[in-house]
Amino acid sequence: MTNRQIILRQRPEGMVDDSTTSVLESPVPVCGPGQALIKVGMLSIDPTIRTWMNDAPGYLPPIGLGDVIRSGGTGVVVESKSARYTVGDVVSGVTGWQEWAIADDTNKFSVIPKGLGLDLATVMNVVGLTGITAYFGMIDVGALSESDVVVVSGAAGATGSVAGQIAKARGAKKVIGIAGGPEKCAEVVEDYGFDECLDYREGHLARRLHESCPQGVDLYFDNVGGEILDAVLSNIAMKGRVVLCGAISQYNTMEKSHGIANTSMLIVRRGRMEGFLVLDFASRFAEAQLELAGMVLGGTLAHHEHLVQGLEHAPEALNLLFTGGNHGKTLVVVDESVQLS
Ligand SMILES: NC(=O)c1ccc[n+]([C@@H]2O[C@H](COP(=O)([O-])OP(=O)(O)OC[C@H]3O[C@@H](n4cnc5c(N)ncnc54)[C@H](OP(=O)(O)O)[C@@H]3O)[C@@H](O)[C@H]2O)c1
Repeated sequence: MTNRQIILRQRPEGMVDDSTTSVLESPVPVCGPGQALIKVGMLSIDPTIRTWMNDAPGYLPPIGLGDVIRSGGTGVVVESKSARYTVGDVVSGVTGWQEWAIADDTNKFSVIPKGLGLDLATVMNVVGLTGITAYFGMIDVGALSESDVVVVSGAAGATGSVAGQIAKARGAKKVIGIAGGPEKCAEVVEDYGFDECLDYREGHLARRLHESCPQGVDLYFDNVGGEILDAVLSNIAMKGRVVLCGAISQYNTMEKSHGIANTSMLIVRRGRMEGFLVLDFASRFAEAQLELAGMVLGGTLAHHEHLVQGLEHAPEALNLLFTGGNHGKTLVVVDESVQLS
């Protein structure tokens, strides 16, 4: 049996293309003492993977040339020589872009509980790191309150759609999304229940935001950075908070990133801006997962999964995040037989 793997061949400039990655075939890894062999089912396609392809400082080292692309994923344990895992467990962790992965002490996976009543794609989306990011970003870092006018960028995306729904569920005064194009803006309002959505591609975002919330933005959940962050900063309310969750508009353009011009508005309006990583909240993941799973099961949290079939299509799936071609959480199906019971 072979293990198909996607490795980093060359660091991309801009979008990932044919020269960036290669598909390799190597033997399925041998399961040693203290290890488990995992058949990979699905990959989580996250914008941060693109940042790991750059030879630049980050919160994790760059992916080495010739290395398997680092990625979160899920799979099923098919062989175990570790007390942590039982054959048949469906697990979540850093699988990489490959068909088979090894779990060990340096690459620990978590076992997904049985009987959740949710399918694997939903778990990887709203109950996984995506939903958890939205939860802690909005509630802890953003300190959401009922008097807040909230703005969320990337609002039709995986993280943004959950962040806005959490704000609505917790009684925010008004929740405004920002997304690219009329179809996505319709999704944000009709599917995810935001009060309004502004299409940033129409331009004049700062002026249109002012029309939507003349008293200013109390809490901005930023998924995109760049010009959109600047437009929101120019509308920040007194004591407004900006949660820096992501800056996807800058991940492909590291050499010529947008210089934020409107930080002086944080002085004028006595605001603050704070970045975070979901991993900072690892000891509290269960709290978020309980609430998010409850919302999904109770029908109060809408979610979409954008499934791309086949490991070999993972690079194209990553590009979808940057063209806006994804609708909801982007996942690559490597082996559809891997399911939750
Ligand atoms: N801090 C953390 O721990 C953490 C954890 C997870 C994710 N994140 C961040 O959260 C953000 C969203 O990630 P996700 O996985 O949920 O992806 P996603 O929102 O499902 O997909 C990315 C979306 O970004 C938008 N986009 C791409 N390029 C853009 C640009 N130049 N200007 C404006 N919008 C652009 C596109 O939406 P449109 O079609 O609307 O343009 C695209 O659909 C990313 O920045 C990611 O790095 C952070």
